[in-house]
Amino acid sequence: MPTHPGDKRDFLAIPDLETPALMGLLDRARRMKAGDSWGNPLAGRHVAMIFRKSSTRTRVSFEVGVRQLGGDVVFLADRDSQVGRGEDLADTARVLSRYVDALVVRTFGHQEVETLAAYGSIPVVNALTDLVHPCQVLADLLTMQENFGEDLSAVPVAWVGDGNNMANSWLNAAYRLGFPLRLACPEGYDPDPAILARARSNADILLTRDPAEAVEGVKVVNTDVWTSMGQEEENERRMAAFHGFMVTPELMSRARSEAIFLHCLPAHRGEEVDARVVDGPWSRVFDEAENRLHVQKSLFVELMVNDPHP
Ligand code: CP
Ligand code: NVA
Repeated sequence: MPTHPGDKRDFLAIPDLETPALMGLLDRARRMKAGDSWGNPLAGRHVAMIFRKSSTRTRVSFEVGVRQLGGDVVFLADRDSQVGRGEDLADTARVLSRYVDALVVRTFGHQEVETLAAYGSIPVVNALTDLVHPCQVLADLLTMQENFGEDLSAVPVAWVGDGNNMANSWLNAAYRLGFPLRLACPEGYDPDPAILARARSNADILLTRDPAEAVEGVKVVNTDVWTSMGQEEENERRMAAFHGFMVTPELMSRARSEAIFLHCLPAHRGEEVDARVVDGPWSRVFDEAENRLHVQKSLFVELMVNDPHP
């Protein structure tokens, strides 16, 4: 049997980490990025990565990060695993728990990662579902801290575009950290109502149809593609629905003068973001992409090392 702490912990969404653990994870990520060594806490341990959707950043940052911590990975794409042929996910979880020490999963329905977590005896990390993309927003929070300091509770953030997995994860981050979040989404493309309601219990959340209203006075402006993976057939309808939601230099000028622009990438220049923004002085998108590596290494320490806060 693989070795792992008795009480396994999963990371399926940001609220799985209590606020102190989330702040500790970000602090450790900052120290790792600055060069502090954590040795090889994953030595002799293996991580299986089940990816049912495409990926560049997530796959590479997880594979490199696990190896930098001394572990190894097994990558399973749909086309060459039995998951892709419909094998029961509960069986998959039980079998992989006999071989490896953690699962990293990118898939469609969020219930798929919940099933893997429920039936597996090893930590399961969500590397994107249709509902949330929590590892990306961990990286975004680290990028915010690099620009505005460690206490994010008063840093206003705007989301412009689709109420998608990224928007839901920003709501979850606001729920844990309490920063004001102003979302502009076209009608019919709102975030998940339960996630929105929970965030409102701990943060000032505005939901508007007007990107200019959302961006007014914020320090962080965020967007994402209008058509996420799995929604390709809706592309034409979405392009029409999101007309007027592009993040342009004019829109950025409504934010604070020190505001930064974030995008999880891949970006579609000329659709959700003007090239002058994503390639301009506001943009931190490549720091944000790099930070995936650091936060995910810190996450593995959090989930798989018995005393993650030495
Ligand atoms: N941002 C992100 O998750 O990128 P990939 O789809 O390339 O992994
Ligand atoms: N919302 C996008 C994010 C890609 C990293 C998608 O789900 O395709």
